[in-house]
Amino acid sequence: MAINPPVDATKTPAWAQLQQHFNDLQSEGINLRRWFAADPERTSKLSFDAGDLHFDLSKNLIQPETLQLFAQLAKDVKLDERIEQMYTGAHINNTEDRAVLHTALRRPEADKGELMVDGQDVISDVRETLDRIYAFANQVRSGEWKGVTDKKIETVVNIGIGGSDLGPVMVYEALKPYADAGISARYVSNIDPNDLAEKTRDLDPETTLFIVVSKTFTTLETLTNARDARTWLLNKLQDQGAIDGSDEARTEAVKRHFVAVSTALDKVEDFGIDPKNAFGFWNWVGGRYSVDSAVGTSLAVVFGPERFEEFLEGFHVIDTYYRTTPFERNVVALMGLMNVWYVNFFGAHSHAVLPYNQYLHRFPAYLQQLTMESNGKSVRWDGTPVTCQTGEIYWGEPGTNGQHAFYQLIHQGTRLIPADFIAFANTANPTKDGDQDVHELFLANYFAQTKALAFGKTADEVRAEGTPEAIVPARVFTGNRPTTSIFGEALTPYALGELIALYEHITFTEGTVWGVDSFDQWGVELGKKLAQEITPAISQDDVALSQQDQSTKALINFYRVHRH
Ligand code: F6P
Repeated sequence: MAINPPVDATKTPAWAQLQQHFNDLQSEGINLRRWFAADPERTSKLSFDAGDLHFDLSKNLIQPETLQLFAQLAKDVKLDERIEQMYTGAHINNTEDRAVLHTALRRPEADKGELMVDGQDVISDVRETLDRIYAFANQVRSGEWKGVTDKKIETVVNIGIGGSDLGPVMVYEALKPYADAGISARYVSNIDPNDLAEKTRDLDPETTLFIVVSKTFTTLETLTNARDARTWLLNKLQDQGAIDGSDEARTEAVKRHFVAVSTALDKVEDFGIDPKNAFGFWNWVGGRYSVDSAVGTSLAVVFGPERFEEFLEGFHVIDTYYRTTPFERNVVALMGLMNVWYVNFFGAHSHAVLPYNQYLHRFPAYLQQLTMESNGKSVRWDGTPVTCQTGEIYWGEPGTNGQHAFYQLIHQGTRLIPADFIAFANTANPTKDGDQDVHELFLANYFAQTKALAFGKTADEVRAEGTPEAIVPARVFTGNRPTTSIFGEALTPYALGELIALYEHITFTEGTVWGVDSFDQWGVELGKKLAQEITPAISQDDVALSQQDQSTKALINFYRVHRH
C-alpha cells in the first residue's frame, strides 16, 4: 500500500476555520465561568464515555462547536485513511520501512487469520507467542520452574531500557495489588552500575530470575547490565556453595536463571540463554508500543495470564473505539486534536498528566517516551520540514504530591499548561481516618483542583475574605486554565490497558496532523554513536582524546584528574 505524502494541516480549510474560531474566542474573551453559566448543558455536551472510562472535556478552552472543527481537521488531514493503514499493516513507519501493528498485539484469538501482513498471519503469530509466555509464566508462578538449587523463583529482574523498561515497570507499579503468586519484580535499566547494584543487593540468586528484554538485543545498556547480572549470579551462587566453578554448572545456572525477550532471537543464544526460553516479537512493534507484547513477560509472571488477558482486552476496546467512532464524538481522536489546538493555536509548550492514584506514579515517565520519542520531530514523513510546532513536553506526578510542589505554576504562572487529571472511584486500599473515608478526601482534591483551575478566584472574591488590598493581586486566580478529567471505576488491568491505548492513539492523532512518522526515533542515534567513539578517549587513548572538541576534551581531562 503506497503511503501518501502528509497533508500540510496548516494549509487546510479546517485550520483556517480553527484560526478564525480562535480569534473569535479571544476577542469575545475566553471565560469558563461565563461559558458554564450560559450553557447548563455544557458539561453533558462535552462529556464522553469510551470503554469503561469517562471523560469530561468541559473545563477546556473549547466550545461545543469547536469539536466540529477538530473533526473537520481530522478529515482534512485524512486521519481516517492513516488509521486504516496503521491497523492493516501498511508500512507507515516509512523511514524504517515497517508496518506499525501494536493494535494487533491485543486482538482476540477469534481474529486469527484476519490480518495477513507481509505474507504472515499476524494474529496467529501473536497468539502463539502469548501461549508460550503464559505457559512459562504458569511454570514460574507454580514453582514448576526451579532455580539451579531447585528453589521456587521469588523475584524476577527485568533488564531493559526505554520501551523495554518503562512500560513494564509502570504496569508493575500500577497493578501491584494484583500480584498473587508471591513473586515480585524489579527493573534495571540504567547503565550506571548503581542501578543493578541496588536492585540486586538484597536478592538471593537461588530464587532470582533475570528477564533480558531488548528488541534489538544490541542495546549497550541492556547487554552490559545483562553481562554484569550474569557475573553477579554466578559469583553469588558460587560464594553460597550453590554451584561449583565448573563450566557445566555455570552454563546450567545461566539457563535456569536467565530468559530473554527480543526480535533478534539468534543473538540470544550467544549470551547463553536457552532459545526455548526466549520469547519473540516483531519489528512492527515499536519499543514504546511494546508493553503488551512479550516485553510484558515479567507482568505475566507476576500477575498471571488471566490478568494479562484482561489488560489486552482493555487496549482492544479502545482500539476498536478509536477506529470506528466518528471523529465528532471520538474522544480519543478529539483529545489528540485538542492537544494540537493548545500547541499550535495557544502556543502551549507542555502537557501535564496528573494521576490521582499513587499506583500510577510511573505513568507520566512512561508517557514521556511514548509521546516525546514519537512526536519530537522536525521533518515530516516525506522528509520535508514540519510546518508548525510539534510535540509537547509531557510531565507530571501523582496528586496530591504535585499539588504541594509545582501546581503553583499551573494555577498562577504565566504559561498555559493543559492538564489531564486521572482518577478512579474505588481504591485498592479503603481506609478511614476516624469517620472520614480517606479515598474520598483524596478525590475531593481531584475535584477541587480542576475547579480551581477552571473558575479561579476574582479580586472581589479575595477582597470579600477581608484580604488587605496590597496582597489582593497575589491571591487572585485567573482561572481559564484547561483540564480534562478522566474518571474510571477502578485501576484494573483492563482500565490500565484502556489508558495506555488512549495515549497511544492521542499521540498518533497529533503525529498525523503534524505529518510526522511517530514510529521512528532517529534522534536517539547520534548520542549513542558518539558515546562509542568517546569511550576509548576517556581512560587511555590520547589520540582519540585529541580528536574531541575543546569542551568535551576539557570535561574528559577533568574526569582523568579527579577519578580515584
Ligand atoms: O534508544 C531508543 C530506543 O531505541 C527505544 O526506542 C527503545 O525502546 C530502546 O532504545 C531500547 O531498545 P531495545 O529494546 O532494542 O534494547
